[in-house]
Amino acid sequence: MTVAICPGSFDPATTGHMDIIIRASRIYEKVIVGVADNPQKRSLFSLDERVEMIKEALPESKNVDVEAFDSLLVSLAHKHKASVIIRGLRAVSDFEHEFQMAQLNRKLSPEVETIFMMASPEYAYLSSSAVREIAQYGGSVKGLVPPNIVEPLTRVFQSKEV
Ligand code: PNS
Repeated sequence: MTVAICPGSFDPATTGHMDIIIRASRIYEKVIVGVADNPQKRSLFSLDERVEMIKEALPESKNVDVEAFDSLLVSLAHKHKASVIIRGLRAVSDFEHEFQMAQLNRKLSPEVETIFMMASPEYAYLSSSAVREIAQYGGSVKGLVPPNIVEPLTRVFQSKEV
């Protein structure tokens, strides 16, 4: 059985992230969505909130699990006997950072392969930071994040203004 990890900060998950997760779940027998606890990044949503929001957004699926992690990504891969890390690529600008991460992960664990999946064209412009900024200034995030994330993302900035 090939297990793949889809890792990220998912702060919050966008429709582009969900597209990659769902496409990966059609290729691999098991997909673990690894939600990173990165203390260096101040996140908008707590780790638990990010995990729950992705779980809610996923369609009924027997082969996708969502899990928080606060370790090296390759350690999460080892824990699940995953041989594949999936990362989405949107544009050339993603490449340098992704290339570095893939090489580092390969150095740490040569048996875990990083596979890049091209973002679907309709999501190629999307990023968590862009949707956070749109929500912060009161713009509509409908269609940019899964339907269950629209309200919490809008609310989090309204409550910050009070
Ligand atoms: O969505 P992001 O923020 O681009 O995801 C980055 C993530 C979580 C995949 C990356 O920061 C990560 O793998 N963190 C775990 C720590 C780790 O393994 N670091 C060494 C490899 S660069």
